[in-house]
Amino acid sequence: DKGGWSSFMAKEITENPDAVANTVRGRVVDGLVQVPELTELGDDVLNGINRIILVACGTASYAGMVGAYAIEQWARIPVEVQLSHEFRYRDPVITPETLVISISQSGETMDTLMAVKYAREQGARTISVCNTQGATIPRESDAVVYTHAGPEVAVASTKAFVAQITALYLIGLHIAHSKKTVDEKELRRLATDLQALPAKVTKVLETGEKIAQLAKWMSDTPSVLFLGRHVGYPIALEGALKLKELAYIHAEGFAAGELKHGPIALIDHGQPVFVIVPSPRGSALIHSKVVSNIQEIRARGARVIAIAEQGDAAVLPYADEVIQIPLADPMFEPILAVVPLQIFAMELADAKGLDVDQPRNLAKSVTVE
Ligand code: F6R
Repeated sequence: DKGGWSSFMAKEITENPDAVANTVRGRVVDGLVQVPELTELGDDVLNGINRIILVACGTASYAGMVGAYAIEQWARIPVEVQLSHEFRYRDPVITPETLVISISQSGETMDTLMAVKYAREQGARTISVCNTQGATIPRESDAVVYTHAGPEVAVASTKAFVAQITALYLIGLHIAHSKKTVDEKELRRLATDLQALPAKVTKVLETGEKIAQLAKWMSDTPSVLFLGRHVGYPIALEGALKLKELAYIHAEGFAAGELKHGPIALIDHGQPVFVIVPSPRGSALIHSKVVSNIQEIRARGARVIAIAEQGDAAVLPYADEVIQIPLADPMFEPILAVVPLQIFAMELADAKGLDVDQPRNLAKSVTVE
């Protein structure tokens, strides 16, 4: 039931705040993140892990990329992300100290299931991040951390994506607590900030009308580019994927630092470019580099739509449009920054008269390899 919304996707985007809140619920105990499902695995097992590989496909792999920055920074364990279908066939090096975390909304994606089975056969520990109770992938894993986004009906993933990122933050903070790689005061601050996120996501939803306008203006554009850096990079990739699958527009996401290594040649007069601007409170250096990127593409005629945190005055002189997001810990910014991009893709598809819930050629869960 669409509950009065024009599409399931419109409904599910408004459920983003609940998806985050419900995934965090019960996993902050006395002000500290504690994921009971991981406690079952045993602290000694977790503390012995020396390498983490996140496996997933599509949107879930971008959630994995965000999670990799967070888990590596907090837990001080090398983390990498591999597409399930690439991981499975590359003869990966796996030991009993390797933790393989799969991420899947449906829990039925065949490529990811095969990756998990393979990892287990090779002796890895496996955790499943999944949105569907009792699905196949969690049954094949040592432990499961469910996302509680609720059923996702629209083919394009939205609320499940923010829930996946949330679950990975929880896993990172749990391990950091267990390994004492982040001091307790900082862990408490992060847990509090995580709990404050849903209200901020609700705030971001208010930008919807402005974004709908932008989408209408751009409904005949042949291509849109997305730039991001650090945790904003996977969000650039996700923004591009949403636009491809929903509006059938050529779209590409780049790491902002790659611009001068090739992609800047694409910039021509009127080229729309979304830039996810990292918080200056995270790294002032990275922030200033992205602001320079905006100046560089603007000078070559790009039409820049910046997604930046409130009060970031540095982008104002250079961006054609600024979409402001509330302040959060810089690691948590992807949850806020992705929402305008979800809305943009939906509105642009809508402006083109396309079916946003059932894009052509796509299925909700891909159960063949
Ligand atoms: C994109 C999308 C897909 C899925 C991918 C993995 O909007 O929905 O890219 O993310 O097919 O699906 P799950 O998470 O079910 O394994």
